[in-house]
Amino acid sequence: MSFTEDEQRLAQPDDHASVHIAAWYMDDSIEDQRLSHQQNPEKPASLQVLQNLGVLYWKLDADQYETDPRLAAIRKVRGYSHVEIINISKDTLPDYENKIKTFYEEHIHSDEEIRYILDGSGYFDVRDLDDQWIRIHCKKGDLIILPEGIYHRFTLDETNHTKAMRLFVGEPVWTPFNRPQDEHTSRRKYLEKFGRVASTA
Ligand SMILES: [Fe+2]
Repeated sequence: MSFTEDEQRLAQPDDHASVHIAAWYMDDSIEDQRLSHQQNPEKPASLQVLQNLGVLYWKLDADQYETDPRLAAIRKVRGYSHVEIINISKDTLPDYENKIKTFYEEHIHSDEEIRYILDGSGYFDVRDLDDQWIRIHCKKGDLIILPEGIYHRFTLDETNHTKAMRLFVGEPVWTPFNRPQDEHTSRRKYLEKFGRVASTA
C-alpha cells in the first residue's frame, strides 16, 4: 500500500524535543498498584528514554477520534485495520477482577500493544534495559505503542476508569506471555532491536 506525503507526516509519532510525557521511574513499594509510586525525590523518565526502549507516543484530540485525520493516517500507515473500544471499570468490564489481575502480570506479546485513551486514565509500566520499571501515566488523548517483546503491565490509577481504543494489524491476538520469556522469539527480537548492543552498534 502506498501513502501520500501528508499521511506519512500525519502518522509521525510526537517528537521528544517538543512533547512532554508523564513518566517516571517507580519506587519499590508493594502498596496499592493504583498509587503513583513516584520515587522520593521524583525521578522523571523522558520521552527520549521511552523512545530508546521502542515506545511511541502521540497526543491526539480524543473528542474527535471518529474524524481525526492524524488517527486515520496512523491507522493507514501502520496497517491498524482492527479497532475496538474497551471500557475498564468495575461496572463495565466483564470478569473485572481477573482481568485487572492479568493486566498487571508482567508480560510480553508477539505483536505491538496499541492503546488510545479516549477517557479516564491509567498506568502502563515498562521495563527499561536495567530492569527498572518506568511508569507512564496515560490520559485522555494519549496514544501509545509498546513494541513487540517489551516487558510491561497495565493498571488503572486511582480514578478506577480507563476507556481505551485497542488497535491491531489484522485479526487481534491479545495473548500475554508472562515473564520469564527470555527465549521467546519476540523477546529476542526486541533485544536485537532495542537492547544495548543494538543501541551502541
Ligand atoms: Fe499487554
